[in-house]
Amino acid sequence: MARSALLNVMVQAAMKAGRSLARDFGEVQNLQVSLKGPADYVSQADRKAEEILFTELSRARPGYAFLMEERGAVAGEDDQHRWIVDPLDGTTNFLHGLPFFAISIALERQGQVVAGVIYNPAMDELFTAERGGGAFVNDRRLRVSGRAKLSDAVIGTGVPHLGLGHHGNFLVELRNVMGEVAGIRRIGAASLDLAYVAAGRLDGFWEDPLQPWDIAAGSLLIREAGGYVSDRDGGQAMFENKSVVAGNEQIHRALLRTIKKPLSPR
Ligand code: IPD
Ligand code: CA
Ligand code: CA
Repeated sequence: MARSALLNVMVQAAMKAGRSLARDFGEVQNLQVSLKGPADYVSQADRKAEEILFTELSRARPGYAFLMEERGAVAGEDDQHRWIVDPLDGTTNFLHGLPFFAISIALERQGQVVAGVIYNPAMDELFTAERGGGAFVNDRRLRVSGRAKLSDAVIGTGVPHLGLGHHGNFLVELRNVMGEVAGIRRIGAASLDLAYVAAGRLDGFWEDPLQPWDIAAGSLLIREAGGYVSDRDGGQAMFENKSVVAGNEQIHRALLRTIKKPLSPR
């Protein structure tokens, strides 16, 4: 598959940062058994990956703005383009030696995401999408799953942890969904959850709250794989409302309805 110049830039940056993360992941696995644990090491790995991405992307496209998890917003002279980057999505997995983590890079043009790359260096899986050009994993075309009923579906989600999200609301949603589906998974990296929906591995996904850098690239992948993505109200204000619901047409619609049901005593 021939990649556009833009996707090439994004893939090269992701691969370079991915090599750095993969080296550090090897070290983290050694540090697991030490008393202090690898926490400081991991935040360094995160910052190092972000530095590589910032340097590579700025060099290839001078003047583009950035929204990065660690750095925050960086203004650029070009007011049409913005990179949205999570240098290490799935930090808790990385810290615990679980190989589900990824680099997520999206490019916004005039407020619309036009390209996305998600790279998991531990599994060497590279997910790419360009608006109107389809979605791919390692050059194989992606398509969302064809399962139409929640009762056949495996659904991903994120479980809010200490200091994050509304635990009571999540438990209501979880109870609603678990009563209707074949299985629920908590993979621990929202970018990969979305990539897995695009790949048809998960039939659907919902999570609240999430940040733009968790969802920008993955949402494009899903759309380009024929799927549907919205905020929890069915609108397109995912960055503002910080919520995501995704799936094929039927599962997306069914999930939107199910998470909102009032809690029934059962
Ligand atoms: C987190 C992961 C996780 C999701 C959290 C995110 P991080 O990102 O995507 O799956 O449940 O809400 O914050 O902190 O590992 O970059
Ligand atoms: Ca993240
Ligand atoms: Ca992160």
